[in-house]
Amino acid sequence: MALFTWNAQYRLGLEPMDAEHMQLFALADELHAALAQGASRQLVRKRLSGLIDHARAHFAHEEEWMRRHQYPGLNAHRIHHEGLISKALDFQRDLVAERAVLSAGTLQFLKDWLTLHLASEDRSAADYLISARAGSAG
Ligand SMILES: [Fe+2]
Ligand SMILES: [Fe+2]
Repeated sequence: MALFTWNAQYRLGLEPMDAEHMQLFALADELHAALAQGASRQLVRKRLSGLIDHARAHFAHEEEWMRRHQYPGLNAHRIHHEGLISKALDFQRDLVAERAVLSAGTLQFLKDWLTLHLASEDRSAADYLISARAGSAG
C-alpha cells in the first residue's frame, strides 16, 4: 500500500510549491515501493539519493521565494530544512557504509516530518507569499 499518497489537503495554493511537493511525495513513494518489493540495496540507495537531491533543490527554491518576499519566518524555516537534510545525509552515509538498512520506521519518520512541515511551516510561508503576491502589482 502506498505510504506517500498525495491528497488535496496538502495543496497550499501556490503553484510551483505544490508541484514540487507532489514530486517529493512521488519520489518518496517510489522509495517506499522499492523497499516494500524487496528491491536491491543499490536501487534503494539510488532512490534515496534522488529523493534527497529533490528535497535539497525544493528547499532552496522555497528559501529563495521567502527571501525575495522578506518572509519573517525564513530563518526558522531554514533550520527545519537543514535539520531534515542533515538527518537524511547521516542516514544515507550509514546506508552506503551498510551500518543501517532502510526500515519502515525510517519512512514513517519521513512521512511524519513531511506532512507536519507541509501543514505548519510550508502553509504559513505559502499564505504569506500568496498575500505578498496579491499585494504587489501583477
Ligand atoms: Fe516544502
Ligand atoms: Fe519548507
